[in-house]
Amino acid sequence: MKIAVLPGDGIGVEIVAEAVKVLKALDLKFEMETAPVGGAAYEISGHPLPDATLNLAKSADAILFGAVGDWKYDTLQRQLRPEQAILGLRKHLGLFANFRPAICYEQLVGASSLKPELISGLDILIVRELTGDIYFGQPRGRRTATDGAFPGAEEAFDTMRYTRPEIERIAHVAFQAARKRNKKVTSVDKANVLETFQFWKDVVTQVHKDYPDVELEHMYVDNAAMQLVRAPKKFDVVVTGNMFGDILSDEASMLTGSIGMLPSASLNSKNQGLYEPSHGSAPDIAGKGIANPLATILSSAMMLRFSLNQEEAARRIESAVQQVLSKGLRTTDIWSEGTEKVGTAQMGDAVVKAL
Ligand code: IPM
Ligand code: MG
Repeated sequence: MKIAVLPGDGIGVEIVAEAVKVLKALDLKFEMETAPVGGAAYEISGHPLPDATLNLAKSADAILFGAVGDWKYDTLQRQLRPEQAILGLRKHLGLFANFRPAICYEQLVGASSLKPELISGLDILIVRELTGDIYFGQPRGRRTATDGAFPGAEEAFDTMRYTRPEIERIAHVAFQAARKRNKKVTSVDKANVLETFQFWKDVVTQVHKDYPDVELEHMYVDNAAMQLVRAPKKFDVVVTGNMFGDILSDEASMLTGSIGMLPSASLNSKNQGLYEPSHGSAPDIAGKGIANPLATILSSAMMLRFSLNQEEAARRIESAVQQVLSKGLRTTDIWSEGTEKVGTAQMGDAVVKAL
């Protein structure tokens, strides 16, 4: 089993180190190879996703990814910015299915900005399409407007688009995931305005015919954003496009108290996957040893489950995380009165000990 380890930028380096520590503590044999990505790779080789890193990722069974990005690269031309590394990996490896669970740990109910009764027991799975939509649609760019309110003015544009097979495959992923959970899928669209999402709604409805045992509901994205904070426990699996999924998954993550707790998996049709915390590189706290490594540690559990076929090891990691939370250990982002504040490495060590 070969794991490509791509720590990236900011807190990526510190948190991935803890996940690697945890993986090494399992009695499993992995080959792990590390490569630079994002701003770190740009500094070394002038590109955020060098060929060597991309080839390593392609050759691995799974990729453990930290985070990319730093404000200092905001002025670089788009194709050299750190974010292009993660977008390029998704595209080149065909990682179309993004799983972003939002689970509220009982020990952390108090860390949410919502009332405990709204989020206690929360367990939502956001299935975000990851290689289509306005993120990748062509054409895009700048030009002179020929119509609209200001013909002749300079304008920028992107293209929102989905093909039928792209919608079908992500819909299948969502219905199959729901079958293993509470058998409900909410498909989020903007069919009242956008042609792309009327098509999305039509195709999801057709795919649903194969899953009569799963309940399907459709919801406009603005309403979904509202329902997520009003009654989040009404959701089970949420399936949506790339752009809406980006936004709603950040919102869902905060319901649980801290984005620092949430793992994610991005899979292709061969179950090769990229595993990363749902949070970003947090340059403001990088290098301070205070970042929460649990999202990355939990991402490595998802990696064991989905790409490496090691369900038991995945469960061991998840229960070790539960144990350290029950002991009251907390990084700053989830700390509250009466719990013990620990740093990044201490948290990783505690998980290893619990294992
Ligand atoms: C995410 C991030 C990325 C995205 C950025 C870093 C390109 O926000 O994974 O949600 O927009 O998909
Ligand atoms: Mg995002």
